[in-house]
Amino acid sequence: MANQDDQFKKVISHAKEYGYVFQSSEIYDGLSAVYDYAQNGVELKKNIRDYWWKAMVQMHENIVGLDAAIFMHPTTWKASGHVDAFNDPLIDNKDSKKRYRADVLIEDYCAKIEAKIDKEVAKAAKRFGDAFNKEEFLSTNGRVVGYQEKIDGILARMGKSLGEENLADVKALIEELEIADPLTGSRNWTDVKQFNLMFGTKLGASADSAMDLYLRPETAQGIFVNFLNVQKTGRMKIPFGIAQTGKAFRNEIVARQFIFRMREFEQMEMQFFVKPGTQKEWYEEWKQTRLKWHLSLGMGADNYRFHDHDKLAHYADAAADIEFKFPFGFKELEGIHSRTDFDLSQHEKHSGKKLQYFDHEENKSYVPYVVETSIGLDRMFLAVFSNSLVEEELENNTTRTVLKLPAVLAPVKAAILPLVKKDGLPEVARKIVEELKWDFNVVYDEKDAVGRRYRRQDANGTPFCITVDHDTLEDNMVTIRHRDTMEQTRVKIEDLHDIIKQEVDVRTWLMKM
Ligand code: GAP
Repeated sequence: MANQDDQFKKVISHAKEYGYVFQSSEIYDGLSAVYDYAQNGVELKKNIRDYWWKAMVQMHENIVGLDAAIFMHPTTWKASGHVDAFNDPLIDNKDSKKRYRADVLIEDYCAKIEAKIDKEVAKAAKRFGDAFNKEEFLSTNGRVVGYQEKIDGILARMGKSLGEENLADVKALIEELEIADPLTGSRNWTDVKQFNLMFGTKLGASADSAMDLYLRPETAQGIFVNFLNVQKTGRMKIPFGIAQTGKAFRNEIVARQFIFRMREFEQMEMQFFVKPGTQKEWYEEWKQTRLKWHLSLGMGADNYRFHDHDKLAHYADAAADIEFKFPFGFKELEGIHSRTDFDLSQHEKHSGKKLQYFDHEENKSYVPYVVETSIGLDRMFLAVFSNSLVEEELENNTTRTVLKLPAVLAPVKAAILPLVKKDGLPEVARKIVEELKWDFNVVYDEKDAVGRRYRRQDANGTPFCITVDHDTLEDNMVTIRHRDTMEQTRVKIEDLHDIIKQEVDVRTWLMKM
């Protein structure tokens, strides 16, 4: 745990030091669980969004985009069930006066047991060496099986109690497990209560006529209410999808994990409208397609796993999370939900407008079923950033900090470095920048010795450094250094464009799907 905490602290401080993420309104001591993306962060975030958009929208003939407003008619949220049921179970500690999510306290307890399993696995892997079979070990080692059964039992009971709104049993579980306030160790808890997560605001100038609104807690509803507009104007045939990216807002009770759980965040969601009865196939298909998208980034298959939901939300007939191994353990990164016809039917009911599709093949109208894929952009950012940050031991007994971002997502693709600030080298370097900047985000850097500049770009996540030296003036060749291998090769200036493109092109990466 201590190691995990240290690693997570490093991630947060590196994100600040290298201009990725800042605390919002920091000069006023910040605002809890609200963050700003800085000069590099904004590029990384945009590249992740573009990577998603390319794969989800532009590579699919039958998926189109949308950019719905954040403000929506308030009845939207009555219809969707958010007014009545978008709650989290909260619990207060009477001594520390700190507020927690009851389910998160229980999940954190389980994460500690899971850390014990990881430890056993690491020990056994060391003992058995190449002969180690992880799957077999997990299913046969008595201690590990016991730990896993304990976790499963706890989570099943919590899921059941929450599903039945049996908040007294959630509290009883916390007491039975002797869960203490993580900050003070006190076990003096209040009862568990429900807390609605939507932020309210007002539309209109005068107090009497102002209308109560909510900031949207998910982007999905903007898609549902536009379903027929898009279907008709785009002449879309089922099955088809509508995708959008945009801000969502939730008044999270506990928001302690940097950009993992924020009060203002961005979602990338796609609603796929299908014929009733075919939703199971599409659900399985989207689960696999989304996992492949993640794997295409090369961040290690072992870092992902599916978590199929036993307890389903009232609108779903199947649901799974893609979990990622964050510095604080496996947690939800993306959700894939088979949402039935719940949302469209609810909007039909509350608006009095038909939201149906006329199926020419079947010669009848119906309310389509929906399979949703929903990923948090900030959470994806954290997955990419935390996974990429490594400390490497070098041969000469030194270390280097390197941010091994997938090159397609890296904010800066190449840094162009004149070896010295004189003899005409800066002019040649500037010329290379002028040429490359049409297609890639590149920077010019002439400050400090070249070794230090390499280290700076390594820590910044820049895949290539291109050095202009005195020989360049004679042979029009430069040294290109690769961030991950530190390998240096001599190449012609005119070949730079193709070399960089090959490594950073979305096509190269998405072809791996
Ligand atoms: N439309 C379905 C929906 O919103 P969700 O599981 O509540 O489902 C989807 O959210 C994704 O949005 C999550 O998997 C997560 O990546 C992201 N997300 C949710 N709440 C978040 C928060 N407070 N901060 C950052 N990301 C969040």
